[in-house]
Amino acid sequence: MKIFLWAVAALVGIVVVLVAAIALFAPVSVAWRGMLADALPWLIDAPRAELAVVESQLTVPAGYSLSLFAADVANARMLRVTPTGDVLVASTRPGQIILLGRDRDGDGTADERKVLLDGLDGPNGLDIAGGYLYVAERSRLLRIRFDAEAGAVQGDLEVLADDLPGGGNHWKKPIRFGPDGLLYVVVGSSCNVCIEEDERRATMLRYTADGEFLGIYATGLRNSAGFDWRPADGELYATDNGRDLLGDDFPPCELNLIREGAFYGWPFANGNRIPDPDFGTGRDAVIAASVPPVFEFRAHNAPLGIVFLRSDRHGPYRGAALVALHGSWNRTVKDGYKVVSLHWREDGRIESRDFMTGFLVDGNVIGRPAEVAEDADGNVYVSDDYANAVYRVSPGGTAMALDVQGRGQPDFHPRPQADPARLVEGQALFDTGACLECHTVAGGNVDGRVPLDDLAKKYDFAALVDYLEHPNTPMPPVTDAEARVALAEYLLAF
Ligand code: HEC
Repeated sequence: MKIFLWAVAALVGIVVVLVAAIALFAPVSVAWRGMLADALPWLIDAPRAELAVVESQLTVPAGYSLSLFAADVANARMLRVTPTGDVLVASTRPGQIILLGRDRDGDGTADERKVLLDGLDGPNGLDIAGGYLYVAERSRLLRIRFDAEAGAVQGDLEVLADDLPGGGNHWKKPIRFGPDGLLYVVVGSSCNVCIEEDERRATMLRYTADGEFLGIYATGLRNSAGFDWRPADGELYATDNGRDLLGDDFPPCELNLIREGAFYGWPFANGNRIPDPDFGTGRDAVIAASVPPVFEFRAHNAPLGIVFLRSDRHGPYRGAALVALHGSWNRTVKDGYKVVSLHWREDGRIESRDFMTGFLVDGNVIGRPAEVAEDADGNVYVSDDYANAVYRVSPGGTAMALDVQGRGQPDFHPRPQADPARLVEGQALFDTGACLECHTVAGGNVDGRVPLDDLAKKYDFAALVDYLEHPNTPMPPVTDAEARVALAEYLLAF
């Protein structure tokens, strides 16, 4: 009997040591740590509920002043200035287009705010032409009559196209009218790196203003989230985000000079025609025929919006391009998180300088610039989909810095507080739902089922929830919002 008790005690001891080792050293998710912390509070810290507030100052170059034009603009992405100087913002996640009234009283903030369109499906692309407001949703191109004087839309939404590929990773669709009066639409890749089934993925498309599809304009663009025509040479320049999972410093993000029919390398090559380790082998000819970037940003800086400064009020900055660097998530030390100005030098080379900084403080993210736009008076607007803000940078004035407070959230994209109950619910949904018919978790590739491990390398929480709502075929969408959140919680625990 005594021996039996000793054996039981030894076994309990071993289990405790094992659990402790896992809790302390295994790369388990916050959710599992939370459960362990509940069970063994003396062993590990519970996930932090309160995050410190981080103070920062946003700064712009001498000769510019800065103001918080509008706060609490949820998920503020693309911006366009109307002919009367109001600022339109695509509020992508709530699905709205918001009008921020121009600053007539000179206090640096928007005089009014109204929702022009609501209930849209992931609107991002936005432009105004010929008395219409154009919007690109996840898979539709829309337009509606827009009265700039009244700052109001009129009549019904007209669907110009409803078949754009909308699933997968890069579903946001930037649009802009070119000097030729045609509408350019970017469709990002569905994945980090893969061979696409839909030939319109990882391209730029072109439409007439009435929505007639004119064809694919350029290919091999993984995710060209911003583009603009440079007034000095009339050429079209587009940012492009390099692929992930090849380390901290490779591949570079790109600025490409876009020409009709040209191929820009993805998924076979990265940067200056460097063959991709996964897809580049045996592709020498196609890589040789690809067009290298005209400028390379540092890896994972994630250049999104770009605008060439056209107003005379910019002095030495006139003709430079401002680019919003959204910032890295796939990098050990965070990088990007600022607006830079690109200057075309006499010798043809392009030089980058910091323009608006302070979004990153000691590794803490205060904000993530997403888009830049300029009004007729040279005021520049910068959207931030992390701080949910729109800033204004104006030539002249004195105030050169803006005090801001961040959430001190060290992780990429805030994630709902890990909830053990939700995790268990997610597991139950996964096991009893149809998921197991087509998937394994952490189980490798069994019977041709798609393994779902390491999803955290590909998706942040919000992106995974989105994927479950808009999956690629043949997967059926998860229609219940709470089920999506629970499933995402569960799947990210691997
Ligand atoms: C009819 C088969 C089928 C069912 C049922 C199904 N899936 Fe899928 N799912 C797929 C396929 C196939 C893919 C890969 C699609 C692609 O190639 O992009 C996929 C992709 C995914 C992905 C993205 C994987 C990645 O690496 O990007 C997630 C996450 C996912 N499924 C979760 C689920 C969950 C959760 C369920 C249950 C609610 C489910 N799936 C049910 C077939 C299915």
